Amino acid sequence: MEVDRYERAWMWAATAMLALFLTAIVLTAAIGGGHPASHIETIDPDTLGIQGEFASPGVAAGADGSTTVSIRAEFFVFRPSVIRVPVGRPVRFRVTSPDVLHGFQIVGTNVNVTVAPGYVSEVSATFSRPGTYLIVCNEYCGLGHHLMQGTVIAEQAR
Ligand code: CUA
Repeated sequence: MEVDRYERAWMWAATAMLALFLTAIVLTAAIGGGHPASHIETIDPDTLGIQGEFASPGVAAGADGSTTVSIRAEFFVFRPSVIRVPVGRPVRFRVTSPDVLHGFQIVGTNVNVTVAPGYVSEVSATFSRPGTYLIVCNEYCGLGHHLMQGTVIAEQAR
């Protein structure tokens, strides 16, 4: 079969690009530690408001000095909506939804996860500077989507 010279050149170019992009993905995953959103942890969205960790969401300090924040993202609030965390120490955010898909983004940080009902999204961050950070929902979730926000206050641990 006779393939035109230019067509052959473009086929090789496309193949080379595919190889390049695949290599970039593999290298990013292997070296940069880039990976798809957290582990898969499931939860019953119908009962999470009644029992367990997310029935009374909030900030919990671990015995080892770690901080874990449980958050419910729901129509159209984050509970709790004001979160106080220590500066300079890792903070683990655990977020889930009892209703629809929401987003959990802390503006100015690398915290940005999708919150799906039935799953617990987990992300860790360390706030290097004290300050007030805005939390926004970045997945359209309904008429009150634009009202859905919260605050993280990073402060010196007492
Ligand atoms: Cu919740 Cu948009």
